[in-house]
Amino acid sequence: MRAVKAGAYHFLEKPVDLDDLLITIEKGLEAQRLRLEIAALRKQHRWQFAHVEFVGRSAAMSELAQIVEKVARTESATVLLQGESGTGKDLVARAIHAHSGRRDHPFLEINCTTLPETLVEAELFGHERGAFTDARERKKGLAELADGGTLLLDEIGDMPLGAQAKLLRFLEDSRFKRLGGTTDITVNVRVIAATNQKLERAVQEGKFRGDLYYRLKVVDLAIPPLRDRREDCAPLALYFVEQLARDLKREAPTMTPEAIRVLETYSWPGNVRELRNVLERALILEDTQEIRPEHLPVEIRGASQPPEGGDQLVQLPPEGFSLEDVERSLIEQALTRTRGNVARAARLLDLSRDTLRYRMKKYSLAASPRASKAALGGS
Ligand SMILES: Nc1ncnc2c1ncn2[C@@H]1O[C@H](COP(=O)(O)OP(=O)(O)OP(=O)(O)O)[C@@H](O)[C@H]1O
Ligand SMILES: [Mg+2]
Repeated sequence: MRAVKAGAYHFLEKPVDLDDLLITIEKGLEAQRLRLEIAALRKQHRWQFAHVEFVGRSAAMSELAQIVEKVARTESATVLLQGESGTGKDLVARAIHAHSGRRDHPFLEINCTTLPETLVEAELFGHERGAFTDARERKKGLAELADGGTLLLDEIGDMPLGAQAKLLRFLEDSRFKRLGGTTDITVNVRVIAATNQKLERAVQEGKFRGDLYYRLKVVDLAIPPLRDRREDCAPLALYFVEQLARDLKREAPTMTPEAIRVLETYSWPGNVRELRNVLERALILEDTQEIRPEHLPVEIRGASQPPEGGDQLVQLPPEGFSLEDVERSLIEQALTRTRGNVARAARLLDLSRDTLRYRMKKYSLAASPRASKAALGGS
């Protein structure tokens, strides 16, 4: 007991079962590896684009960071950002701007969804006095105000067709007229367009101009959903915990490997934004030094944790079920997941290897689907 208090991972009682000893050592090493990995993750996998920090360790994210770097160096290449809601389109647009020669000029944004159709053109290109009923004064549009800087056209898929035609002309020669105006105004603006719909489909459906689509996608960046790059969950989570703790003026809690695994298992329909919100909630509600799975919302834990309400690991349905079928199915799943590695499958099921082999024999299960019965004992 003193050894455990002093930090020993575990203890075994004599007589020692060698299989148990091996499993305990493997578990201990795995726990240590995860802790070291988490410590290392704290500082790695971050790119700094001026004040904009970009986090990720998936191949997709490092590739994206390199492209941001290259695009920022171009004077005014147009960029099309496609990705589900919350994947980081705004962040990437800001990173490009902050890292470019335009950084000391404005970064302006127009959201084509929230704006009434009739106002999109006026917002973008401005209007002269009396151009339409409400136009009592001359007003500059965002294209004019962003001169020298970057203009983000968010949810470009929702831009009305009339505004699309004007935008295309503007992209071709950097010139436009204010609504109701007669003189051409020339500006120097980089346009970045973002969308969470498949623009190609909108083109096929006639809702989006094909010529504008091809003009926009000079640099075409697709940001994959978080569920397709689960390895980014850990560095993102550690980054957000640190950032949120700083905002809340408290010390950043650590995250247990189990909590990280829960984050890596969930499907994140709201992508990175949802991950950030979940951690913010945990930090606000839990005054803990260590974020553990129970500090995360049930929906998130759902995939990897027993349901709440009752201590039961598995709920027995009213009509009951065959315990042997369940056992057989779990053994099959463990073997599939470990690609037939009996030692690792045994660990997943918290069995000794001999016990697992015995039960595999009982259910006539081979280590791998292709293995013959003769190989049944191998691992
Ligand atoms: N790779 C990343 N590194 C650090 N923070 C990120 C990353 N990706 C996204 N975020 C953060 O996640 C949140 C959501 O990102 P952002 O607003 O850029 O998403 P979006 O794709 O523009 O979403 P929407 O389509 O809803 O506008 C922001 O707080 C952003 O800073
Ligand atoms: Mg956005």
